[in-house]
Amino acid sequence: MTPDLLLAFDDEWALAQRLAVALGGLPLQRIERHRFPDGELKLRLPAALPPRVLLLRGLHQPNDKLVELLIAAPAARELGVQELSLACPYLAYMRQDMAFQPGEAVSQRHIARLLAGQVDALVTIDPHLHRIASLDEVMPGCRQRAISAAPALGAWIAARHERPLLLGPDEEALQWVAQASLAHGFDHAACTKQRFGDRDVRVMLPSVPVAGRAVVLVDDVASTGRTLIEAATACLAAGAATVDVAVTHALFVGGSLAQLRACGVRHVWSSDAVPHETAVIPVAPLLAEAIRAL
Ligand code: R5P
Repeated sequence: MTPDLLLAFDDEWALAQRLAVALGGLPLQRIERHRFPDGELKLRLPAALPPRVLLLRGLHQPNDKLVELLIAAPAARELGVQELSLACPYLAYMRQDMAFQPGEAVSQRHIARLLAGQVDALVTIDPHLHRIASLDEVMPGCRQRAISAAPALGAWIAARHERPLLLGPDEEALQWVAQASLAHGFDHAACTKQRFGDRDVRVMLPSVPVAGRAVVLVDDVASTGRTLIEAATACLAAGAATVDVAVTHALFVGGSLAQLRACGVRHVWSSDAVPHETAVIPVAPLLAEAIRAL
């Protein structure tokens, strides 16, 4: 799929510029935002749009950005777009993939379907797919492609460690440690995790020797950082020589990055799917390749 234009918001402008370059110099235009005193949003798109448009919108700070998408997508169609694709580097709401308590909404299903109703195609990076195998299951009628930053994180780690032990901090992360390890033959395994609340998790190490190893914890997303903090603390208590962290999506709310460093983690690396001070892996080339392949 070759779009005629890339549309982006001011807060993702740097990534938009990199994506436009990676797509061979695709024209790039801005959606202007105005927030009214009561919190409502007004968006202003270019007055006339070509038939095929790619919209860039990551969904960190998800609720505001979902509303922006719900306004921007139909507005783009009114302004001439016939085929609207979404590059969504971070697809939020994918972790609530079952009703853990009776009555809980399965947000993954509902948000995915909502987006599928707005755009014709979607490209995203490391969506949290655990209980479903692919986005096809929750995005009917929308072409989509999910790519992973894990191989690029693996290459980054390989350039810095000779024989690291890659650990996923929970069972779900086994898919990302496996992908990060694939090209380099790294030893890898996953911890087990129990979550009791937003900031209350317990992590148990797998039965692989950790003492003396350079451990790199690899996960898709760090939010409160508690999962990584618990895993890192357990690794250091078990005698790990060093603990570094590599994640695709660095949300790191509040002071969680400082807390992670304070517990003894040496380096924290992430992709730039979410703009963050730890970003070292550029996702624009990955997104561009996936968009071309759609
Ligand atoms: C869930 O299993 C994810 O892969 C992450 O491990 C989790 O979302 C991290 O959350 P937090 O940083 O709040 O512990």
